Amino acid sequence: MRSDVVVVGSANADLVVEVPRRPGGGETLLGGELRTLPGGKGANQAAAAARSGANVSFLGCVGRDGNGEFLRERLAAAGVRTDSLVIVERPSGTAVIFVTPDGENSIVVSPGANAEMTVERLRGASGVLGAAKVVVISLEIPLATAVEAARIGDASGARVLFNAAPSVRLDPDTLRLCDPLVVNEHEARDVLGAGEGSDFRALAEGLRDAGARSVVITLGEHGALVLDDEGCSETPAYRVRAVDTTGAGDAFVGALAAELAAGKGLRRAVGFATAVSAVAVQRMGAQPSYAERTEVEEFMRAHAPMG
Ligand code: RIB
Ligand code: NA
Repeated sequence: MRSDVVVVGSANADLVVEVPRRPGGGETLLGGELRTLPGGKGANQAAAAARSGANVSFLGCVGRDGNGEFLRERLAAAGVRTDSLVIVERPSGTAVIFVTPDGENSIVVSPGANAEMTVERLRGASGVLGAAKVVVISLEIPLATAVEAARIGDASGARVLFNAAPSVRLDPDTLRLCDPLVVNEHEARDVLGAGEGSDFRALAEGLRDAGARSVVITLGEHGALVLDDEGCSETPAYRVRAVDTTGAGDAFVGALAAELAAGKGLRRAVGFATAVSAVAVQRMGAQPSYAERTEVEEFMRAHAPMG
């Protein structure tokens, strides 16, 4: 059975602790109750795409351990196909996450099994990849695998949604496969190797000049900027109170992929994705905070984005 959206990426057990503030060097702080939640950029994106109504497969690696079982079970519960999830002899990926009262986070990722997502393993799943309408790629796996996924996806006629997160510098050959390249403002600068500056339109144009077919820069509470053949446009954000922003960018990417796979235009798809991430930041965790499509549509009817 083919999946319209295929996500190539990471899965992590997120160990989340609420803290009153970030600890300093040598400091011990008391935090809240430990929560183990399903996360990892790739798995998050897959879950968000499935909740948005797409047919989704996830290609990734987990360990032969309790967290690996947990991650598979949570993906399946979100409606994601996990037949291509590979079990490897490394601990499952883990993210240690501190969340402060303003909803901001600090994250340390231990890649573990995600580092085993090799080009060979990817090629082993090229049938699934080649049948996709949209291939979603993020970078908590080896860069060579991500680049190969983009090549296979593009060569088989899929649209490649490349989320250059965490930050990396990309060469023009890879950029030319991205339609769209999705980055936040920091990643946008890092992809280009550009310095400081807050002219996002210029950054987006720089990314397009460097090869990207289309560009989406996510700007948090300032919404998102889209640049494609139709020009440049801005999508405002919704005004919400953030409880936990972890995985809000992944919610955006997954929802965007679902909309593109359903044939929506990039601007309209970005509008929906903005709403999905606005709902997600109001709840704890990454995957557990992603709403079903009907709930997002209700949210969109009830709230106008800030103009
Ligand atoms: O993007 C958010 C994700 O980054 C978290 O779920 C955590 O696993 C880290 O990988
Ligand atoms: Na959240």
